Amino acid sequence: MRTRTRFTLWSVAALLGLGMTLANPSQAAAPGGAAANAPGGGGRVSFAEDVFPILQNRCLECHKAGAPGLAFSGLNLETYEGLMQGTRFGPVVVPGNAMVSNLNVLVEGRAGIRMPHNRKRLTACEIEILRNWVNQGAKNN
Ligand code: HEC
Repeated sequence: MRTRTRFTLWSVAALLGLGMTLANPSQAAAPGGAAANAPGGGGRVSFAEDVFPILQNRCLECHKAGAPGLAFSGLNLETYEGLMQGTRFGPVVVPGNAMVSNLNVLVEGRAGIRMPHNRKRLTACEIEILRNWVNQGAKNN
């Protein structure tokens, strides 16, 4: 009986240890704050100067009044408020967390569909700007 109890305790300890090793990498990766501020992370990203021009060039064609992307998803990319409001199903930007933000998931091709829809994908540089902006809090700056 004694041995058995000890064995059980050790199993629990081992499981907890395993759980922590599994949980830690994702926790470290999620906020992305370190990556955003790392050398080459691009420094502070501005919505008006860096992010909006990308949306204008690559997304607005479909995500503005009267266009199909807005009609199908409800996502209006004409303004900061529209972007933050997201689709009719909910937000596409979670400030501080590009890992789970649909905006990033879609332009990075991490989902079944990719944006821009049926167009050339964004450049690595554009993808990084969007990622850093979200990780830096998705501010209207
Ligand atoms: C050629 C047209 C077109 C372009 C360009 C385009 N989109 Fe879309 N977008 C669509 C359409 C159509 C849908 C609806 C797709 C669906 O629901 O299956 C959509 C849906 C979305 C959604 C919601 C997806 C979901 O299911 O939640 C997001 C987010 C999105 N677009 C972001 C972008 C971003 C960011 C860009 C620019 C980098 C972009 N789109 C460029 C047509 C476009």
